[in-house]
Amino acid sequence: MSDVKSPLFQGFELGAMHLPNRVVMAPLTRNRAGKGLAPTELAVEYYRQRASAGLIIAEATQIRPDGQGYLDTPGIHSEEQVEAWKAVTDAVHAAGGHIVLQLWHVGRISHVSLQPGGQAPVAPSAVRAKAQTFVAEGMVDVSEPRALESNELPQLVEDYRKAAANAVRAGFDAVEVHAANGYLLDQFLRDGANRRTDAYGGSIENRVRLLNEVMEACCEEIGPDRVGVRLSPVSPFNDLVDSDPQPLFEHVIDVLNGLSPLYIHVIEGATGGDRGVAPDFDFGALRHGFKGAYIANNGYDKAFAEAAIEAGDADLIAFGRPFVANPDLVRRYALDAPLNDLNPATLYGGGAEGYTDYPALQEG
Ligand code: PHB
Repeated sequence: MSDVKSPLFQGFELGAMHLPNRVVMAPLTRNRAGKGLAPTELAVEYYRQRASAGLIIAEATQIRPDGQGYLDTPGIHSEEQVEAWKAVTDAVHAAGGHIVLQLWHVGRISHVSLQPGGQAPVAPSAVRAKAQTFVAEGMVDVSEPRALESNELPQLVEDYRKAAANAVRAGFDAVEVHAANGYLLDQFLRDGANRRTDAYGGSIENRVRLLNEVMEACCEEIGPDRVGVRLSPVSPFNDLVDSDPQPLFEHVIDVLNGLSPLYIHVIEGATGGDRGVAPDFDFGALRHGFKGAYIANNGYDKAFAEAAIEAGDADLIAFGRPFVANPDLVRRYALDAPLNDLNPATLYGGGAEGYTDYPALQEG
C-alpha cells in the first residue's frame, strides 16, 4: 500500500484481533438469505471479496424468528444458519480478514407476514411506528405491535446469549449487539417508543436495563472482548426519537463501562444521512467517556475519516455504501483511486448483480 502515512492504514489492536487498517465495513442489509434464512454461497463470495477491510461487521442477523422485519434477512438461531455462516467466516479468515456478526431484533419494525404464525411484532409498548418495511409484496407500513410482558424479557435476554454463542460457534471473531436505528433495544432505550411502567420503562436507568442485561449475558457467554454494540443516539430513522438523548446515552456509556465490552459503534447523526440533525448532541462525550474502542459511522469519506482519527475523535471508521460498490475499498483508498458508483436498484434482494459483480481495480 502506497499511502503508509495515512492514519487509516495504521494497525489497531481490537481485543485479541490485530486489525491491519482502520477501515471497517459497516453492517449492510442486502436481503439475499437463502433456504432457512441462511446465508448462501453468494454471501460467502461477497464477504470474501471484502476481507481486506480491517474489520467486517456482517449484516444485521436475527437472533430468533420474531426478530425478523424484512424479507430474506439471515438468522443465527438454527443449526442450518450456523453451518452456513461457517462458510462465510472461513472464507474471510482464509483471506486474512476479521468478521463480526451483528445481532438483531427488529421489535416493532416488522410486518405480520414476516412473523411466526402471522402474530403481531413485539415491542416495548403497543405504539406503531410510522415506518415501512420490505415484504414479499414490496414496501408496506409496519404492523401494530404488541407490548412484551415483563415475564417474556428473561427469555429474550437468553435468546441474545444463545445467538452470541451461535455466532462464536459459526466462527465469528465477535458480535455487535444492534441497539441502534429504531430496532428493539433502541425502542427500549428511547422514550418515543417506550411507554412501559415496569422496571424497563420510565427513568433512564429503567430504559437502559434491557440493553444492560443483554450485554451482560453476551459478555458472560463469549467474553467482553468479543462483544461490541451499535448506537444511534439522535437518528430519527424508523420513527424513533428521544426527548433528552444526551443524559440517556451518557448513562448507556456508564453502564457499558461496568461491563468492559470491546467497542461502541456510533451512527453520528441521522442514519445514512444528515450528520447535523442534532447539532447540540455531544458525541465526544461518548467517545471520551467510553473505556473501549470507538467506531465512528455516517457519511465518512477518506479525508474526513483521516481527520477524525488524527483528531482522536475515533479509533476506527465504518463505511457502508462505499463498501457495497467497492470490494477493494481499502486498496482504492490506499492508492487514492476512484470509486465505483453504487446502483441503488440492486441494494435489496436479487442475486449476484449489484452484490458480487462490482469490479476490483485491475492489478498492477
Ligand atoms: C434496513 O434494512 O433498512 C436496515 C437494517 C438495519 C439497520 C438499518 C437499516 O441498522
